[in-house]
Amino acid sequence: MRFDGKCVAILGGNAGIGLAAARMFHAEGAKLALTGRNTATLSAASEEVEALGIRADMGVPAETDAAMVEIEEALGGIDILFVNAGVGGFAPVDQVTEEFWDSVHAVNLRGAFFAVQKALPLMRDGGNIVITGSIGSVSAVPGNVVYASAKAGLRAAARILGKELLPRRIRVNMVSPGPTDTEIFKRDASAEEIAGMREMLAGVVPIGRMGTPEEVARAVLFLASEEASFINGVDLYVDGGCVELL
Ligand SMILES: NC(=O)c1ccc[n+]([C@@H]2O[C@H](COP(=O)([O-])OP(=O)(O)OC[C@H]3O[C@@H](n4cnc5c(N)ncnc54)[C@H](OP(=O)(O)O)[C@@H]3O)[C@@H](O)[C@H]2O)c1
Repeated sequence: MRFDGKCVAILGGNAGIGLAAARMFHAEGAKLALTGRNTATLSAASEEVEALGIRADMGVPAETDAAMVEIEEALGGIDILFVNAGVGGFAPVDQVTEEFWDSVHAVNLRGAFFAVQKALPLMRDGGNIVITGSIGSVSAVPGNVVYASAKAGLRAAARILGKELLPRRIRVNMVSPGPTDTEIFKRDASAEEIAGMREMLAGVVPIGRMGTPEEVARAVLFLASEEASFINGVDLYVDGGCVELL
């Protein structure tokens, strides 16, 4: 019960890694608020983990603002903020459109930054923030220029946030997953394509398989807990060795 009575807000908490973390925070006594865009998965997730569920698009900072008002009314404040929402997508350099660039960066970089900014007035001093990055930010994967540059920008922002929040004793850390078995890589893909991707990724990841959302979520809870009280500003790769062992 590391989070007994703690108020935890998860932006992007209705699927994948965010939902896995929500379940674990709930099991350890946290009071939760979850955001997401899909109302069906949001209401199912909120019911399951007894959370306040708020439909809010993180790509629209005004919606994040409105979500924070609801969170303040319901929970009174935030001890732990998990900024997890993110969208994917691949395109080689010559096929990147301005629209595609803006749609990914609006959520993964701009939206994530403004989510932290807008949550800060609610955050209790001594609390902490965990942000989901990606090993994409340090890996030269062809076709990943848009997503990778957004996550690399987020890494830079997280360092500065961490420094600026030192006077409030708010730690800021990142968790950067490697290939993890969630919907993000399955959307718009056929069963055959998904099976092919899994096989390809199993060959690429040093540990020989994709990660599970729970394996990433465990690292999130560790960084958010008092066990990590002396850890600040890190980007923890949860990637089966992709970054350090390839
Ligand atoms: N899976 C991987 O291999 C991998 C690798 C590296 C990094 N990551 C990062 O891990 C994080 C979680 O992804 P996942 O793998 O768990 O994928 P996922 O299953 O697709 O979950 C994504 C979550 O983000 C939410 N979300 C997306 N866009 C949003 C928006 N504009 N506003 C509010 N919520 C939004 C989704 O809610 P809705 O469904 O309601 O939109 C969902 O809760 C992302 O930041 C992703 O970039 C994933």
